[in-house]
Amino acid sequence: MSGFKDKVVLVTGAASGIGLATARAFAAAGARVLVTDLDGDAAARAAADLPGAVGLALDVTSERAWAEATEAAGERLDVLVNNAGVAAGAPLAEQDLAAWRRLMAVNLDGVMLGLRAATPPLRRARGNVVNVASASGRKAQAGAAAYCVSKAALLMLSRVAALEFAPHGVRVNCVVPGGVETPMWARQPFFADLVAEKGSPAAAYAALASETPLGRFCRPEEVAAAVLALAGDQAGFVTGAELAVDGGYGLT
Ligand SMILES: NC(=O)c1ccc[n+]([C@@H]2O[C@H](COP(=O)([O-])OP(=O)(O)OC[C@H]3O[C@@H](n4cnc5c(N)ncnc54)[C@H](O)[C@@H]3O)[C@@H](O)[C@H]2O)c1
Repeated sequence: MSGFKDKVVLVTGAASGIGLATARAFAAAGARVLVTDLDGDAAARAAADLPGAVGLALDVTSERAWAEATEAAGERLDVLVNNAGVAAGAPLAEQDLAAWRRLMAVNLDGVMLGLRAATPPLRRARGNVVNVASASGRKAQAGAAAYCVSKAALLMLSRVAALEFAPHGVRVNCVVPGGVETPMWARQPFFADLVAEKGSPAAAYAALASETPLGRFCRPEEVAAAVLALAGDQAGFVTGAELAVDGGYGLT
């Protein structure tokens, strides 16, 4: 596949999970990928495996880091994938304000900063943006207010950006994944207990997928495929869209 030959693509949070799968898919399609992550060493390791890729440290909450990353992209940026995100849960009655703000800083402010920093090279390339939202931005979940609110706000931020960028020929779309098998889950405190109870990580994911009509969690590569579909020329008239990649979870 060479649909993105020589296109410059920047992916945030690309050292793990969905971001890593997305960076790999773009590299396989011929793009020059800027593999960026809070963990710069992990980004460099991931990039080393990909032809034409460069690894960079990029904390999406840092205005300075965004200036450096967009500088590294050069004159033109064909695709920006705002994927970096963190998950944390707490009942509202116990929500810590600093933890709330930390999550918003990454999941919401980080995307706003990325859109702002990348505006000039995106306009020059008449490029496009794909934001990684979440089914949790549409479906309320008890104990996950900060995460749900951050992703709901990201959906609206993406629509506003789509309107503002359209006159410059720049498209902005979202993928809206349901549960995806990534290290994000393995880090949640309850996951180890669930693995112990069910006997294996696969059985734990299967239990978590009980509300997903297709009956399983998503693979990171399946989200990556949706990102590439939205970023490619075939989607040239698609902007402001929210593409669910959730096995039907959002329908129930
Ligand atoms: N895994 C799921 O079930 C799921 C479902 C829906 C949406 N998502 C979204 O997909 C995106 C990727 O999640 P994942 O599951 O691959 O998680 P992950 O934890 O495997 O990867 C996230 C990456 O983001 C990086 N990161 C964290 N803070 C950062 C920061 N400040 N700046 C730059 N990078 C930072 C981490 O270092 C990590 O490499 C997130 O936005 C997440 O909310 C995940």
